[in-house]
Parts: sequence; structure tokens; C-alpha cells
Amino acid sequence: MASALTIRKRLEDLTGDDEDGHSLTKSLNALSIMAIGIGGIIGAGIFVLTGTAAANYAGPGVMLSFALGAVACAFVGLCYAELSSLIPVCGSSYTYTYATLGEFFAWIIGWDLVLEYAMGAATVSVGWSGYFVSILRDLGVFLPPQFTNSLGSVVKLADGSTVTGVFNVPAALIVMILTFMLARGTKESATINNVMVLVKLAVVIGFIVIGAFYVDTSHWSPLIPENKGAFGEFGWSGVLRGAGVVFFAYIGFDAVSTAAQEAKNPQTDMPIGILGSLGVCAVLYVLVAAVLTGLIPYGELNVPDPIAKGADAVGMGWFSWPIKIGAIAGLTTVMLVLLYGQSRIFFTMAKDGLLPPIFAKVHPKSGTPYLSQYLIGGCVALIGGLFPISLLGEMVSIGTLFAFILVCGAVIYLRRSDGNAHRPFRVPGVPVIPILGILFCLALMAGLPLDTWLRLFIWMAIGVVIYFVYSRHHSVVQKRAGNAPA
Ligand code: ALA
Repeated sequence: MASALTIRKRLEDLTGDDEDGHSLTKSLNALSIMAIGIGGIIGAGIFVLTGTAAANYAGPGVMLSFALGAVACAFVGLCYAELSSLIPVCGSSYTYTYATLGEFFAWIIGWDLVLEYAMGAATVSVGWSGYFVSILRDLGVFLPPQFTNSLGSVVKLADGSTVTGVFNVPAALIVMILTFMLARGTKESATINNVMVLVKLAVVIGFIVIGAFYVDTSHWSPLIPENKGAFGEFGWSGVLRGAGVVFFAYIGFDAVSTAAQEAKNPQTDMPIGILGSLGVCAVLYVLVAAVLTGLIPYGELNVPDPIAKGADAVGMGWFSWPIKIGAIAGLTTVMLVLLYGQSRIFFTMAKDGLLPPIFAKVHPKSGTPYLSQYLIGGCVALIGGLFPISLLGEMVSIGTLFAFILVCGAVIYLRRSDGNAHRPFRVPGVPVIPILGILFCLALMAGLPLDTWLRLFIWMAIGVVIYFVYSRHHSVVQKRAGNAPA
């Protein structure tokens, strides 16, 4: 097993251009990076899960759930900001783990990040398909439900009969379209991303501002409905479980770190991008939750499109269309960011030799890892087409929380091992803040079901096998150390 590398060595390895077409174009400015952050954050979480969490667990207290989730992510976000300014190369927590715990653990985290990025994109594609089908239905176009639902899911039709889902075609199609765009070039994708981020921001802010006039404050009382006897069913434990559910809504701020190598000024752009986008989204989320639960009784919010339903319920029906469009735009940008992030993590892993070189092959004209992007897109499209949103979403949450814990640990470790390294951004109060980050993540993980934990272990076991069968023998570091055939 390779020992941990110094930061200086990692930077030499990863930031230098090489001669064989394996370097990325530096095309992103601070605004684009923040847009990547917001683009990656606001999505299925706010547009779908707010209603689920309010109706099933937290009631109007879902606004506190969002605040709690924001606090947890803020601790982790601070850690990400320090690491991404200290180690401004793409690869996210994979890179940080490499610098601290060495190759094996880096592989583990890289493999785990597939759950956050690729599986996250698949999750959102299913949510996207739901809104898309709903818009088409409004237009009088009815797609066969067998081909808009996951394999084996039982769909109840209006006449009471049922059909069994085969493949979610819209979910797979949108992934392939976005994959094609990303493979063509970061600059184009970033421009489209910026436009769609503006659209969804306008819709979210519009909902808050217009909806505020219709809020009936009696819906907020009691703010935390009485617990129904079981853990997580309202009461304070419901607020906690609600925070676990809406945690999904914050996933994505860390994706900013995967763009570090393509940033013009990574040292300043990274902290601004991460903390800025997280802060903006946290404020918007709490306000959306407050307005939504003020419009209609929380018990009525367990629907696939709760925000549109809220608008409908108070006679703002005209606004439900823009909301659906905003949701579509929102979910699209989230997928773009996650698919982009996944290819950049694989890029770094391939440069380290842990994945086949095809994942680091950059197109001579577009400057993107196009082959990797297509491979990832194909797999994500397949998964999004076959599996339901609930199963995928839980896997994403547990995988992400696991990664976040390692990131917080890396900050503490690096302060000791490389205390003198220049840190343009420093987490205040180390080790308290990273430790709080770890504790919050553990608490949220503890709330997830046992079968999700089992799936995580199985996924990780597969990763360990691949490491010992392939990666260890092709590792650049191992070869350099004479531990693997050259
Ligand atoms: N935060 C992203 C979403 O809500 C993953 O869809």
C-alpha cells in the first residue's frame, strides 16, 4: 500500500501539463464556479423532497430541518473550502484523501464518490422524468407508463388498473443528451448551465416573494407537530429525520471542488464558490419551506410536485407552469454538474493509474475527457432507467455522508502532517469544526435504513476487489516505488 504523499508532491503530479493530451483547459471564472455550485445544489431536494419531509416527518418544522442540514453542510463546506484552496486540483475528496491517507483509502473514497456523483445523477434523472411526464400530461400528451417508470414498479392508472414499469426512457434520454453536451466542451456546458441556473433561481425567488403574500400563518402552528409515538414521526425526532431526508437537497456544493483544475484562480475562487453557493441555497431553502408550509396544511404535501401544488392551492395556478419549467431547469443543471464531476474524478484517478487510461484521455479540440464522459453517461442512463428514485436517493445520501466524514478528517490530519503549507483559506476552530462536521454526518447516516448500509458495504467490497485485481498493479505511485510491474 502506498504511503500518504506530501501535498507538494501531489501538486507536482497533478497540476503539470503532460505531453500526451491529458490536461484540462482553464476556462472557469469565479461566477461560473459559483453557478456550478448553485447548479449542483438546487434540484430534486427542494422541488420534490421538501413536501415528503414536511408531510411525513417534520410538518412546518421542515424549515428547521433545512436549517439543521445547512449547519451540517456548513461544517463540511468549510473543510472543503480549506482543502480545495490548499490542493487546487480536480478530484474532490479523492484527491484530499490521497494526500492524507494514501492510495488505498483514496481508491476507497473515489469508488464511494461514484455513489454521490453517478448515482446522484441517476437519481435526479428519475425526478426529471417525473416533471417532464407531468408537463407533457398538461399538454395532453400521455406517454405509456411502462416506459416512464423503473423496472418492476407497479403503476396505478386512473381507471384503477395497474401496469408494470419496464424502463424509464425519459430519464435515460436526458442523461444521454447532457452527456453529449458535456463531451463537446466545458465552456458550452458552463454557458447553458449559467442560463438554467438563472431560470431556476428566478422561479425559486419568485415562489418565495409571490407566495409570501398568500401565507396563512395558522398553518405554522404548531411549528413542530406532536410526536406520533415512533422515532422520526414528527416532534423533534421528526425534525432530525426530516434533516436526513432534505440533506439530499444540499448535495452538490462539494462538486465545485472538482472544477479546481479548470479554475482561473483556484485559491480564491474555490472558497467563494463553495461557501457562497451553500449560503445562498440555505437561505432560499429555509424560505421556500416556510412559504410552502404556510400555503397549505403540511399533510397535503406528499406529492411529486409539492411546490406547484402549493401554488395551485392558493389560486396561483398560473405560476405552476413556470415552477415546473424551473424544476426541469433545476434538475437539468444538477445532472450536468454531477456528470461533469464524475468524469473529473475518474480523470484524476486514471492519471494516478488506478483506472484505465481511457478515463484520462482528453479530446484534442474540446479539451474534455470525452470517452470517459460517454462511458459514465451510458451507465448512468441505464441505472436511471432501471431503478426507482427512493432506492437511488438513499444510496446517494449514505455514500456522500461517508465521503464528507473523510474530508473533515483530512483537514485535521493535514493540519498536523503539513501544518506549514500555505492555506489561502483556513477553517476556524480546528479541530472543533471538523469534528462537529463528522458528528453531524454520523448522526444523519445513523438515521438511514439498514438495507442502505448493506448496499454500501457490498458496493465497497466490490471496490476493494477491483483495487487488488487491477488498480494496485497499474498504480503510477506503486510503479515508481518498484512495487508493481513497469
Ligand atoms: N442537491 C441536489 C438536488 O437537490 C442533488 O437534486
